Amino acid sequence: MTSLTNVSPQLRRAWHPVGRVESFGSTPTRVELVGDAYVVVRLGDAVKVFLDVCPHRNARLSDGLVTEGCLRCPYHGWEFDADGAVAHVPALGADATLPPARLTAPFTQERFGLLWIAPEEPVTDILPIPEWDDESLTKVWMPPVDIDAAAAQAIDNFLDFSHFPYVHAGTFGSDKDRLVKEYSTERTADGWGFVVQYPHVIENHEDPLVATGEHPLVQDRLMRYDYRVPFTANLRLEIPLTGMVNAIVMWCQPMTMDRTRVHIVMIRNDVRTPADHQAAIDYEMKIFAEDLRVIERLRDKTMPLERGQVHVRSDRHTVEFRRILQKLMEA
Ligand code: FES
Ligand SMILES: [Fe+2]
Repeated sequence: MTSLTNVSPQLRRAWHPVGRVESFGSTPTRVELVGDAYVVVRLGDAVKVFLDVCPHRNARLSDGLVTEGCLRCPYHGWEFDADGAVAHVPALGADATLPPARLTAPFTQERFGLLWIAPEEPVTDILPIPEWDDESLTKVWMPPVDIDAAAAQAIDNFLDFSHFPYVHAGTFGSDKDRLVKEYSTERTADGWGFVVQYPHVIENHEDPLVATGEHPLVQDRLMRYDYRVPFTANLRLEIPLTGMVNAIVMWCQPMTMDRTRVHIVMIRNDVRTPADHQAAIDYEMKIFAEDLRVIERLRDKTMPLERGQVHVRSDRHTVEFRRILQKLMEA
């Protein structure tokens, strides 16, 4: 039986976000990914990423500091330049021949304001987000959330829609949404993702006209999910009655066997004031907390891909999700 965890080696061949680019400065920061740790630091104008291990005696470089454009190890003061080459070994003096050691650098890129790492040559690219460049929409970033669940479990839950009436009874879930109607799942041409469209109903507690009686509480909502391996999904929500558009993008960073950092941005058309902005974050956090009460308490932190779970017709796209992860395991 194949199963996936946050530290499955095949995840090393994919792109993963590790934080907002603007959150990294000249103070070295340690980030965890697929069981390894990296130091992220701004050297000159560029954000650089290296394995968080000094090649001399394996100290943590993230406990060091930046001096004259170099990263200095906290243990014996060796200095590494922006290319990761040894630039200075204090114990050898100024004109010494330097050891040919070099820090290990993964593949990196910046996209959607996030820093991305692929530990090894990636087999896929990053999911495009069409809403990102739409000037009529506002970006609302959630603070990153560290959870006690696997990245695959968080995305499986984000894609799932038969849990809404139960898990989200305290927010948008509606009793009228229990039956999952027929829907189709379309695999993308490259085979690394899918698109699902699903119309359903919610209780719209975000609509102020519900309180005044001008709008019904239960409203139609269209959902479109774009999934891309391994742990990205863009959920575009539209409510025809209010005209609301909200694309919720979830990117999960598998850190260790048990821990995942979740990066979420909402790209929406109904946020104008700072109060709207905060209300959107608070409501989304409340929904996410409802999910966490379940997914942080699943049996263990593994995702069975082939056998070991019972699927029904309404799980069609989360079965497709498992197939695509299986394809990554075999790539
Ligand atoms: S361990 Fe880094 S300089 Fe010695
Ligand atoms: Fe949920």
